Amino acid sequence: MNKPSRVFITGASSGLGAALARHYGASGAQLGLAGRRLDGLQDTAAGLDAHLYQADVRDAVAMQEAAAAFLNAVGVPDIVIAAAGISVGTLTEAAEDAPVFRAVMDANVLGLVHTFQPFVAAMRTNGGVLCGISSVAGVRGLPGGGAYSASKAAATVYLEALRLELKASGIAVVTVAPGYVDTPMTQVNPYAMPFKMTAQAAANKVARCIEQRRAYTVIPWQMAWVGRLLKWLPIPVYDAVFEKAPRKPRGLPT
Ligand SMILES: NC(=O)c1ccc[n+]([C@@H]2O[C@H](COP(=O)([O-])OP(=O)(O)OC[C@H]3O[C@@H](n4cnc5c(N)ncnc54)[C@H](OP(=O)(O)O)[C@@H]3O)[C@@H](O)[C@H]2O)c1
Repeated sequence: MNKPSRVFITGASSGLGAALARHYGASGAQLGLAGRRLDGLQDTAAGLDAHLYQADVRDAVAMQEAAAAFLNAVGVPDIVIAAAGISVGTLTEAAEDAPVFRAVMDANVLGLVHTFQPFVAAMRTNGGVLCGISSVAGVRGLPGGGAYSASKAAATVYLEALRLELKASGIAVVTVAPGYVDTPMTQVNPYAMPFKMTAQAAANKVARCIEQRRAYTVIPWQMAWVGRLLKWLPIPVYDAVFEKAPRKPRGLPT
């Protein structure tokens, strides 16, 4: 792939999305940065050639408007990265968690659809990459994280379906499932996080996956082995090991 010149990124106000913006911005790409918090987008954009779009990925119309504005101001992107997402602990038995389940599914699953949909028709001409950020947390159901695990399992499967739908179009769909990344999302976790990456290290790995148009990659490689093991662990063994696993704190997503 030639050096990307136009890149649209959601979740660009923080963490991995912001690190991806810096990665592509440093090599001179024109950026479209989307998120809900304008101050976070402005921090990311400092010194970069960036257009900012204050938009909620749960809102299909807002994302269509953001994409139309980017297409108009900058042109057809080479790469669209859907990095926006939320993670919060959930319990099915807690009635107050019902809206939390909805928010997590809306942001982490429908957010992907709303991000990619407005770009597909325009990208069919020159091809390009749609990259979705899933998670190794979607490989098996994690106790206390039912919404997040379910949302990331759904994200991975949705992205696989999209990859096949677009196979003949020249648009590659790249799924990256990170292990732990040091961002505000994980800074609240009260447990050890093996193989944790800095956001910039994770962004470099995501960019390599995009460059190589890799269908599905768990990062870092150590977590890829953990993911494979998790996937094939027999249910009784998985249950015994993970029943008492430490849980993500519950609360209202921001
Ligand atoms: N950190 C990890 O260990 C880890 C591991 C695996 C996968 N991931 C995934 O990596 C992605 C990035 O996470 P991160 O670690 O960088 O977390 P983060 O620092 O909390 O950043 C999350 C980003 O998503 C945006 N966002 C959340 N809800 C949104 C909404 N409804 N509309 C628009 N933007 C929204 C936030 O921006 P605003 O608040 O400004 O809207 C923020 O920019 C997520 O999909 C996450 O699930 C992270």
